[in-house]
Amino acid sequence: MEDGCGREINYLRISVTERCNQHCVYCMPAVPKGRPCEGMPAEDIIEVVQQAVPLGFTKFRLTGGEPLMRPDILRICEGIAETDGVQELTMTTNAQKLGEMAADLKHAGLQRVNISLDTLDSKKYRRISGGNIREVLQGMEAAYRSGLTPIKINAVLLGGINDDEIYKMVELTRSCPLELRFIELMPIGPAAHFPKSRFLPCSAVLDAVQDLIPVSGGETEGVARMYQLPGGKGKVGLISPLSCEFCDRCNRIRLTADGCLKPCLHSNEEIRLRGLRGQQLQWALKLAIAHKPERHGELDAQHPSPAARAMNQIGG
Ligand code: GTP
Ligand code: 5AD
Ligand code: SF4
Repeated sequence: MEDGCGREINYLRISVTERCNQHCVYCMPAVPKGRPCEGMPAEDIIEVVQQAVPLGFTKFRLTGGEPLMRPDILRICEGIAETDGVQELTMTTNAQKLGEMAADLKHAGLQRVNISLDTLDSKKYRRISGGNIREVLQGMEAAYRSGLTPIKINAVLLGGINDDEIYKMVELTRSCPLELRFIELMPIGPAAHFPKSRFLPCSAVLDAVQDLIPVSGGETEGVARMYQLPGGKGKVGLISPLSCEFCDRCNRIRLTADGCLKPCLHSNEEIRLRGLRGQQLQWALKLAIAHKPERHGELDAQHPSPAARAMNQIGG
């Protein structure tokens, strides 16, 4: 279905839980407000998808918190994957539990995964996320073996923390068929209080690796501008949310773990959907599409996102 700006909205990002087995410094508040929401019941999530398809939604992404924290995540995948009209079912995960779950997820109908990995250094990884980098690497390997591909790696650019690793990370794409995406840190949740020096533009990647070349004259894939090392097997994507670069192509709305639709990541407007059934769900989805703003307002270290929720409640 088209929104008021003529954009076709066909992508629903579903946060299935606010819980996470990590604690990334930019994502989860150090002192959370109350207990994290465990998410909507699986059958309710599946019903939202069934009602979204007739409106033209074809692409669904499971996010969190960490989606693999849900004990019934396989049922959620199965229910969505077997809904007629669903063309894409994907997940964004920190991969801590992916090693043990990749094969079952593939079997349940998940098609591919995007994995968050901001550094290749195990100590730094623990400092940023509280997690274990070995689990991520095992998770990546299991995802590759199970065919949850192409795998995309999301690395949030953190000035003074991982900018010294840009070259080394890009080098991985020389021999691995990965899509490595650098994401500009967004001033939302805990990151809204970070110093200016933490925020780096994506151009820092092009400065650090001067032989990156645009893929077929500046191709974009979703929200990323694509580059490649000469002869590299993988690709490098640059995601610049601060510049509003992709708002005019925005094709998504979001469902929070506690059952609210967010027409835009950086707006406080929400439409409560939890508790609605059948046709009522379609009305809520139509309302969210109709309320999509044309773009977000100014966003940088001095102008934090007006969204009151932290990223673990929205799902990125
Ligand atoms: P693909 O289907 O693989 O293209 O996934 P995706 O890029 O839509 O999903 P992913 O969860 O990997 O998102 C990557 C990051 O891009 C998010 O975590 C955000 O940081 C950023 N991003 C994605 N969508 C939006 C959006 O609508 N607005 C803004 N400002 N940033 C977004
Ligand atoms: N800015 C940019 N990206 C973020 N993510 C979480 N918080 C932020 C932020 N403040 C990313 C995660 C994950 C994706 C879902 O969102 O690293 O890859
Ligand atoms: Fe879409 Fe809002 Fe993200 Fe812009 S900021 S791309 S309008 S969700």
